[in-house]
Amino acid sequence: MKIISSIADKHRAEPFRIKVVEPIKMTTLAQRDKILKKACYNIFMIRSEDVFIDLLTDSGTSAMSDNQWAGMMLGDESYAMCRNYFSLKSVVKNLFGFDKFVPTHQGRAAEHILFSCTVDKTKVIPNNMHFDTTRANIEDRGGLALNLINDDAFDTQKIKPFKGNMDIEKLEAAIKKHGVGNIPLVMLTITNNSGGGQPVSMSNIRQVSRVAHRHGIPFFLDACRFAENAYFIKTREPGYANKDIRAIVREMFSYSDGFTMSAKKDGIVNIGGLLAVRDDRLFTRIKERLIINEGFITYGGLAGRDLEALARGFMEATEYEYLKYRVGQVKYLGDCLMAKGIPIIRPTGGHAIYLDAKGIFPGMHQKLFPAQALTVELYREAGIRAVEIGSVMFASKDRKTGVVKYPELDLVRLAIPRRVYTDNHMNVVADAAGQIMKRRNKIKGYRITWEPPTLRHFTAKFAPVK
Ligand code: F0G
Repeated sequence: MKIISSIADKHRAEPFRIKVVEPIKMTTLAQRDKILKKACYNIFMIRSEDVFIDLLTDSGTSAMSDNQWAGMMLGDESYAMCRNYFSLKSVVKNLFGFDKFVPTHQGRAAEHILFSCTVDKTKVIPNNMHFDTTRANIEDRGGLALNLINDDAFDTQKIKPFKGNMDIEKLEAAIKKHGVGNIPLVMLTITNNSGGGQPVSMSNIRQVSRVAHRHGIPFFLDACRFAENAYFIKTREPGYANKDIRAIVREMFSYSDGFTMSAKKDGIVNIGGLLAVRDDRLFTRIKERLIINEGFITYGGLAGRDLEALARGFMEATEYEYLKYRVGQVKYLGDCLMAKGIPIIRPTGGHAIYLDAKGIFPGMHQKLFPAQALTVELYREAGIRAVEIGSVMFASKDRKTGVVKYPELDLVRLAIPRRVYTDNHMNVVADAAGQIMKRRNKIKGYRITWEPPTLRHFTAKFAPVK
């Protein structure tokens, strides 16, 4: 047994075999040029059938197992108290240690309900780094979303095991500045999606929880990539090497008073979310909001079959061999890219590789959208769809002076769906990036020809700069 497993380890063999396949189509360069032009150089506007390798997101794009599909057939579609709710309840209790939870249709619905019960325009929510939808839901209520990430996170090349950690001094200072009464909860996002998919250590989770609790403030997790975070704790944090992933997960959640979760990531389902709390009064209000916005408390916007797939997905995502394969594949892509001299955020995170577009196009001003240019080139080169996380998404214009403020980093995220692509697909991605690197001096950048008032990255139209 041991010999077999070390050979499998050497090749990082997938801990599954493939029962169902979905054909994907390779287009010609001429076709892709035409498709890009028609989409006004916005990859969100490209039909998915015209994409060869889709790395737009790891959210809801993963492959379910035969066991999950079998569970779908056991869906009990009764309006109230369906049996699949009880399957999920038992997993939520055993894995996360929570009795009080509601399903939601996805993560942002859980955020919407939580913040509509806790946030108004006087309130401040600290986090290591808010994901777009948590920030938007807080700001939508008039609240202030604070990022208190440690400074190492801003150094893309610094190798540190837990670059997702919150800076405890910044947290203490924020509590002092804004006052305990204005902070309804403190959050930690595991792993830190907006900062390279970097994990948070157990000791940081414990410390943040302690500081919050010392001030009587509840502590919540934004927990969509909890299993990948637990894997990093096991493999990087002293004292955890011999602990089971599920015991680590249980400990992580034991410090929290609640969590929001997009189950579309480590739940390995195509749709779903959760909101869990320990406080009875808050739970009562959540259930009221849920019934108005999502559905009855035992299905919350999902079908019975979705609940079953999720209960099973959580168990699969917390298997060590699966996580080793999963995080290993992300690292493999990162290593292939670095071997070609392509700058990426280091160390590689749990679910995605972040390419540094300013590093790839050193002479290109941010007003020419280097990350947008790289995103277009990845599609042009090999039909790869990635997502721009740079000046298109984040540059902001000062309302009074009209001066545009550009983000520190212009990144392109290659998010890897779970159990979907093989290492050969990763080789295609790395080679495509390598080819772009070779002809980078010829790439000129883009200008926006039309944009909507908000969230322009989804629908903006572009034209190449001559
Ligand atoms: N929190 C984090 C950390 C996320 O990454 C996401 C979604 C959400 C909350 C919202 O969950 O999409 O189910 O409503 N991230 C996706 C992504 C969209 O591509 O990273 P949702």
